[in-house]
Amino acid sequence: MSAVKRIGVLTSGGDAPGMNAAIRAVTRMSIKLGHEVYGIYRGFNGLINGDIKQIGKRMVSGIIQRGGTILYTARCPEFKEEEGLQKAKQQCIEHGIDGIVVIGGDGSFRGARDLSERGIPCIAIPGTIDNDIACTDYSIGFDTAINTVAQMVDKLRDTTQSHNRCSIIEVMGRRAGYIALQAGISCGAEYIIVPEGKLNIKEVIKKIQSTLEHGKQHFIIMITEGIGDVHTMARMIEEFGGVEARTTILGHVQRGGNPTVKDRVAASQLGYHAACLIDKGIGNRVVGFDRGEIVDHDIAEALEMKREFSNDLYDIAHEISF
Ligand code: ADP
Ligand code: F6P
Repeated sequence: MSAVKRIGVLTSGGDAPGMNAAIRAVTRMSIKLGHEVYGIYRGFNGLINGDIKQIGKRMVSGIIQRGGTILYTARCPEFKEEEGLQKAKQQCIEHGIDGIVVIGGDGSFRGARDLSERGIPCIAIPGTIDNDIACTDYSIGFDTAINTVAQMVDKLRDTTQSHNRCSIIEVMGRRAGYIALQAGISCGAEYIIVPEGKLNIKEVIKKIQSTLEHGKQHFIIMITEGIGDVHTMARMIEEFGGVEARTTILGHVQRGGNPTVKDRVAASQLGYHAACLIDKGIGNRVVGFDRGEIVDHDIAEALEMKREFSNDLYDIAHEISF
């Protein structure tokens, strides 16, 4: 067994259901390997400000099923500057922190890479509802988020159908359409609009018109945030599509709630592997899944990777919704 290490763990960026399960796995496994674990609060802010407290194995009891993050999270612009990174490094030295597990999205990975390059080994765990991290097939939080969206859209469909309306539902995803695609197909959305494709409102209206001709009188249109104004779209659908339209911006409800089994399991696996890497003195890696197997990559290389959007699934969704 290696010498006792002090291992920090933090959550950063947007929270994601399953982050607590990852914190639990990192903590329990690191303690099992003979190390001490320190919780760093509010992302990289806690590192810069020394908001760091030891966490024991019982402190992570009863959190595997809880959404949010017991370590809190934040965005920390200071960490993008050399001065912030140096302050963080100094805190690590003062607290005797030998390595850090960073749970977050690709922004947080950049922070983990920068800190690793300055001598503090970091292991990154993908945690973001957007599932937009190219080096892994899956990021913690996505399954819970799409299930939340599906539950909400099922409710919206009831009222949309009762009123013969068109519901335009905006979902999160930042610059990626994975939430819209998976939730859209699972709810039978008539049209899915994602950043990876083109927003062609004429196409949407054409589909509504042809579908109306086939007797269907209610529609679900799912769109990723940041592509277009849903209110303008609703007005155009009413004017040119001939159907009353309503808009719903689902917002932060998508980030909350108890993690699904899939998220709890993925978080436990990734947390376990992150702890094993840190134990071996390895840093500057991101853990993830490749066709179900756990893998790890150099963080800088991981940040360069690109993932193809599933056009097949996108096409299937549209072929079968009319
Ligand atoms: P996410 O991790 O969910 O992608 P952000 O992109 O907001 O979320 O990043 C979270 C935090 O990671 C930022 O507030 C900042 O502290 C850190 N970060 C982001 N980009 C960089 C960078 N280029 N260099 C260092 N740290 C960064
Ligand atoms: O990355 C997760 C996410 O929820 C994105 O889908 C969204 O664009 C963003 O974070 C919203 O961030 P916030 O409201 O916390 O600033």
